[in-house]
Amino acid sequence: MPDRYDLPAGFRWGAATAAYQIEGAVDEDGRGPSIWDVFSARPGAVRDGHTGAVACDHYHRYPEDIALMKGLGLDGYRFSIAWSRIQPTGVGPVNPAGLAFYDRLVDALLEAGITPLPTLFHWDLPQALEAPSSSGPTAGGGWLNRDTAYRFAEYAAVVADRLGDRVPAWITLNEPFVHMVYGYALGIHAPGRELMLDALPAAHHQLLAHGLAADVLREHGLQVLIANNLTPVRPASTDPADVAAAQAYDALHNRLFTDPLLLGRYPDLSAYGVGADLGGCVRDGDLKLITATPLDGLGVNYYNPTRIAAPTDPALPFTEAPIEGVPHTAFGWPVVPDGLRELLTGLRDRYGAALPPITITENGCSTTSTLDDQPRIDYLAGHLDALAAAVAEGVDVRGYYTWSLLDNFEWAEGYHQRFGLIHVDFETQVRTPKASYAWYRDLIAAHHARHAG
Ligand code: FCB
Repeated sequence: MPDRYDLPAGFRWGAATAAYQIEGAVDEDGRGPSIWDVFSARPGAVRDGHTGAVACDHYHRYPEDIALMKGLGLDGYRFSIAWSRIQPTGVGPVNPAGLAFYDRLVDALLEAGITPLPTLFHWDLPQALEAPSSSGPTAGGGWLNRDTAYRFAEYAAVVADRLGDRVPAWITLNEPFVHMVYGYALGIHAPGRELMLDALPAAHHQLLAHGLAADVLREHGLQVLIANNLTPVRPASTDPADVAAAQAYDALHNRLFTDPLLLGRYPDLSAYGVGADLGGCVRDGDLKLITATPLDGLGVNYYNPTRIAAPTDPALPFTEAPIEGVPHTAFGWPVVPDGLRELLTGLRDRYGAALPPITITENGCSTTSTLDDQPRIDYLAGHLDALAAAVAEGVDVRGYYTWSLLDNFEWAEGYHQRFGLIHVDFETQVRTPKASYAWYRDLIAAHHARHAG
């Protein structure tokens, strides 16, 4: 296969997963319940009542999964750590068996020549931090509660103490935007709150948690990243009302997270009737805490651009408009590879010298086909072309982690959306590499061969 992606020698190729989506073993070795165990047990919350109770059984099958990663020739593997395996109620005593699992995982990855890239929080908050029993250790409320940020920093210290000698770079949070909107504003994900704009404290407290944990990681001599879901926002027309709506959406989806992280201030949210203190949750000194430890890298999760028109409902200052005339994934997401180039060059233009090196921490698509997944190959190839074009335009991108290694539990969609390079039969747990697995393996090998010697 021709090596058409002219990326630098040290560019790192990886694949990504998350704990609740693959591990299963939810009652084993002292793991406490997370908000996803509770949410997925709620009738109607997840399609067909699916849960992550077994998922890919990765907790037991990780040696087989690492062998498959080795077969791909991955440089890095992005996974997440389940907080409730480490501290079953999110606070206090450490569960040694939970910590030992990630210890074994890290050693097995290193043995296979793969650099672990852990994410500390990928949406599976310990349930006790959301809704404690009456004698529980916290007031609950999950990320609506400022205290959760401090608990997160304590948890970060526990894992950094144990794994920091072997794991150089860490991602604090995964997609605080999606967690806030789906989990707290719309109720589509755990914890299932429907607070609309009153969900904003969940954004601020996640960012505060990032800042506090980043400090802890840096004290351990570790590199710090955060993974945001970012989207280039396109106005539906040149009509000023559509343009203003697009700016308002961009402020909420993208700048609400990247502005405080990179510029130390919140964007203008006046279109939402909200001031710079996000409705009162931002205290003096918080933005300093968020930025105290500069990022070593920005993780970018990219799936598609967003097209925005003037509002049709007075509750929000925008309406999402469909993107027509392009293919759509099995999930119904528009396939617009050049959106990745647009996003990356846009970040460079907006943040300039304040922008740290970028790693693509997720990109991929769900397909209906099983093993012959040509639509996935086309999706990945198009996005890697766009990535290479951004690099050629001077954007510093250091790595690419495709979502996902394995078919897995896709949140509210259950097992219906298959994002993996590897097919999983959820009845038998048999793993079968798809056509995209061989394609990605050859691409990685071609990159390394070109830069060898
Ligand atoms: C992202 C999530 C990831 C996965 C993909 C498809 O928003 O971070 O866990 O569900 O979407």
